[in-house]
Amino acid sequence: MRINKYLAECGVASRRACDKLIAEGHVKVNGKVAALGEDVRDGDDVTVDGNAVRRRLSHSYYLMNKPKGYVCTVKDDKDRKTVMQLLPAGAGRLFPVGRLDYDTEGMLLFTDDGDLAFRLTHPKNEIEKTYLVKIEGFITDAELNRLRTGIELDGKMTNKSRIRLISIDKRFTKLHVTIHEGRNRQVRRMFEAVGKHIVFLKRIKIGDMGLGSLERGAVRKLTPEEIFYLTNL
Ligand code: URA
Repeated sequence: MRINKYLAECGVASRRACDKLIAEGHVKVNGKVAALGEDVRDGDDVTVDGNAVRRRLSHSYYLMNKPKGYVCTVKDDKDRKTVMQLLPAGAGRLFPVGRLDYDTEGMLLFTDDGDLAFRLTHPKNEIEKTYLVKIEGFITDAELNRLRTGIELDGKMTNKSRIRLISIDKRFTKLHVTIHEGRNRQVRRMFEAVGKHIVFLKRIKIGDMGLGSLERGAVRKLTPEEIFYLTNL
């Protein structure tokens, strides 16, 4: 098996993050620094920074309703609160699948199944993510059309998105926005590009899976059905 896949299945990190660890020389196979793309076999002695890595037969899968005011990193260099602090004690060595901004709320998956994390976050798999977006004021049809057909961010157009108007009142407009990429601060930057500032952003769906009644800040294990759904997306 390819070494990055093996490390991901062992729960070290996502496949891409494992490639970085390999490229940086953190990984050894039978005492020799591993090369990118190398294969490992049963019985090989694999270590990351000297720690033995073993393939686990079962993985853990959790869903969090992330509150705003938490960063999606294991340790924040500015000492802000991290999503890891909301995980139950004894949940094991989990990592978040993808990211939500500090100010963004909603669905965040955690697992030690690097293979699933890789598939859910790889742009080629185009997994749909739906956000509840609240902006101040109104949005015109022309602005909605620009958002739907694609916005240039960092010199590259975003893919088409689906946008549904949910409510309009005197001060705010709420929308559901479905995208299938995961560029940095993508939704916020798309709206900024049409002159709209997002005052509230929450991820409400991954594929067709939603948060259900999970309270803000709460965490629960995924059901076997949800795990099956995600692994077959
Ligand atoms: N888009 C954003 O702008 N922020 C997020 O956290 C997720 C998607």
